[in-house]
This record gives sequence, C-alpha cells and structure tokens, in this order.
Amino acid sequence: MSHVITINADVSHGTINRNIYGHFSEHLGRCIYEGIWVGEDSKIPNTEGIRNDVLEALKKLKIPVLRWPGGCFADEYHWKDGIGPRENRKRMINTHWGGVVENNHFGTHEFMRLCELLECEPYISGNVGSGTVQEMSEWVEYMTFDGVSPMAEWRKENGREKPWKLKYFGVGNENWGCGGNMRPEYYADLYRQYQTYVRNYGENKLYKIACGPNVDDYRWMETVMREAHPFMDAISLHYYTIPGEFWTGKGPATGFTEQEWFTTMKKALYMDELITRHSAIMDQYDPNKRIGLIVDEWGTWYDVEPGTNPGFLYQQNTIRDALVAGLTLNIFHEHNDRVVMANIAQIVNVLQSVILTEGEKMLLTPTYHVFNMYKVHQDAERLDTHISGSEYEMDGDKIPQVSVSASKDAEGKIHVSLCNVSHDSQADVSVALRGLGGPIFKIKAEQLAADSLDAHNTFEAPDALTPSTFSAYEVEEGVLHAKLAPMSVTVFEITAG
Ligand code: AHR
Repeated sequence: MSHVITINADVSHGTINRNIYGHFSEHLGRCIYEGIWVGEDSKIPNTEGIRNDVLEALKKLKIPVLRWPGGCFADEYHWKDGIGPRENRKRMINTHWGGVVENNHFGTHEFMRLCELLECEPYISGNVGSGTVQEMSEWVEYMTFDGVSPMAEWRKENGREKPWKLKYFGVGNENWGCGGNMRPEYYADLYRQYQTYVRNYGENKLYKIACGPNVDDYRWMETVMREAHPFMDAISLHYYTIPGEFWTGKGPATGFTEQEWFTTMKKALYMDELITRHSAIMDQYDPNKRIGLIVDEWGTWYDVEPGTNPGFLYQQNTIRDALVAGLTLNIFHEHNDRVVMANIAQIVNVLQSVILTEGEKMLLTPTYHVFNMYKVHQDAERLDTHISGSEYEMDGDKIPQVSVSASKDAEGKIHVSLCNVSHDSQADVSVALRGLGGPIFKIKAEQLAADSLDAHNTFEAPDALTPSTFSAYEVEEGVLHAKLAPMSVTVFEITAG
C-alpha cells in the first residue's frame, strides 16, 4: 500500500503547544495512592512520599502540565480536608470511585511538590458541583497570595512560606454529568459567578478554564460560549475512545478481535471531527482564537481487567493504545491554532496510562513509549504537510491507513511522526522533503511495532514492547522512502540545511 507525503519545511503553521502533552491524575483507584503516593514510611523508595521509580520515568517524558484532583472526584473534593498534619486529616468515602476510604494524605502541598519535582505546571480543577464560591476563592488565596491574609497564614503554618505559582485553574468538571447534572444555561451562569472570585494575587495570573462539552454536545458548547465567553481563557472537551458501548460493554483491553482493532482506530480519528466542529462554534464568539480548547480528558476506555474493582478503571495497555496515542497527538498538532492543551486520562494505573504499577513493580506501557518518542514535537513549529494514499478497509468501512505530522524544533531539526494503523499491511511511504534550505546531513528513526494485535508489557516481561532503531528506509533525490510495519508508530529525525 503506497502513500505520498509532502513536507514543506519552510512553511510553518505555528507552534505546537507543549501542553498538548499534558497528563491527568485523579483520586481514582490506584492512580494517586500506590501509583504516585506511597508515603514517607513506605519500603518503596520515595522522595517525600512520592515513589522514585514513577517520578524518574515521568521526568524523562518532560511532562508539561498535570491536572488534579479530578475528574468527577474534583466536584466532591474539599481542599481543606487535605492540608495540615496528615494524621489529623479527615477521612472520606470516595463514593464515585469504588467506595473506598480516602485518607486525604495526598493534598494540595503534596500535589504542588509533585509538580515541582516533575518541573511541570499544575492544573487544578475546582469544585463547583458540591463546593461553594467561598471555598473555591479561598483555595486560590491559600495557594497564591503572598501577604498577610487568613489563608496565606494558614499555608505558612502548614510549612509553605511562599505561595506557589499557579496558572491553570478549571472551574468545575463535567458539570453536565457527575459535576452536578446541570443544564448549560445554569452552568454558564454559575461559571460567571464562581470565576469572579477566582482572583489574581500579585504577579500570579490565572488562566481560567470553563467546563466544556462531552463528545458531540454542540448545544453545550454553543450555550456556554454565548453566555460566558468574555470570562474565560479556555474551555474543555472530553472524548474517550471506547470500542464498544459505554454502558453495555466497552470491550476488553487485550484479547480483542481485528474488527475491534479497526473500530478503535476509527473512533480515535473521530477526535478530528469533534475538534473541527466545536472549534467552528467557538469561532462565532471568538474569531481571533483568544480562547483555547483544552481536551483535558482523552484516551481509551475499556472494560476493567477481570477480577479488579470496577470502580478503579484499571486496564492493560497494548500496541493498539500506542496507535491511538500517536493518531490523537497528530490530530492535536493539526489543530494547534485552537487546541492549547490536552491531558491523557490517566497518568498511572487508570484508563490509558503511561505507567502501571503492582506493589513495588512498575512498567512502562506502549503509550509511554509514544509520548517519549513524540516529546520532540513539544513547542516545535508545525510544518505544512500533505498526504495521499490508500485506505485501510474492513467489512466495507474505510479509514486512512497512515497518519503523519511534522515539526521543526528550535535547533532546526525536523521530526516526522507516522502511524500505520493497518493491522496486517505494511505502508510504503514516499516523503518529499521540500524547503530544507540545504542537503540532508543526518537521519535517524525509531519505531514501535508489534506482531500481535494486543502485544503489551507485563510485570514479568516489562520490556516485551519497546521502540527500536528503524532502518527500513532510503533517501533518493530528496525523497525519503520508508516501509512502515503494520501496527507501527515511527518518528524520524532529519537534520538538514
Ligand atoms: O477519567 C475518568 C472519569 O471520566 C473522570 O473522573 C470524569 O471526568 C470522566 O467521566
């Protein structure tokens, strides 16, 4: 199957915001507890309670931004329960996620420390569904006020003299569902009210994010934009790739059919249509694209692993997830005029994770490897790219077989990421590299590929699926010819000029 790609290296379509490579961590299942936080007394090596193996692996990914504490948990979370001496912190039932006891040992100070250690920006989701305006306002004061005030004094008593720098603040989560089952008209009014008291203190300038729609709820987008757009910096969108149906069976994470593979790819590609259509609605109220679209929950969602708590959303992660990650990141790149951040759900042990843990063991998933290969695109200039070629067909249904995105980094290196979604056909691609400004000096490439649909890493074989150097290519008169394996994600680095 052949594909012709043209990359115009001298035509830029703007910067790919590094925050597109963001992550999401919720008090859900084993994401925070065990996945990140083990406590200072744990026999698992840790830094101030945060496990070292996970920390080191995440640092390597250059995570730009991390969202917390939810998700649905955010609209049940009362931040004052999670500060002060840990032994005195209030215990609560995490009613939404498995009915387990939440001891509040991981709170504001621990989250902010995690972000410091990861050198990433914190993104806090405030409680609109069951919290008050005052509670939200005081949280911002606690975190960011540098002076004498009740909240700032309390923060100091709890061991943090200087305020933290906080930019990203979400006013509610999924308020159309778990965050209060609101109508968009009602939420838009609440948004206007709550955000009024989300203050900027001193030099700290908040970037306020309104709760946006679920999937294709265009009425939600239209209403919230119409009623509240002057008061927001961004609005969110949530879309999960579910091969089956949400309520009746999403499908297994491993042991699935070729048809389920195809459906997963097709549903992942739907992200492109969603962004295009939501963005068109935003254009009516914000033609200059001041307001960002933030896809702060995305990724695959399957049935939980057999025998695990259904409320913990623990799933394996295979080469199929790697392809969903690669396709989706390529889509976000192409919409870099509107999509300013995205947060894959969720960082450890929940849904499409980059890391899985089991007690003291840890493994990196195929999705981790894609994020690692793709990190070269962060803050790079998106290059003008065109593709034509054969499609991937199943039972009369068709989708494009190859997805491509290219960017140029600050040093002038060009990176081209390619996904071959076919489960059984190699893709022969010819990439015409134009506008390089000189000869090609060096090319190197890495590929993540597998020979079974559900190839994955286990705690017994954590490196069964890792990227390897890719060499099935040659360059002829400025055209790169490559043979991409079925079910593969490939990233080229080209030095020229
Ligand atoms: O990521 C899991 C859940 O999915 C989040 O808590 C919620 O916002 C969404 O429905």
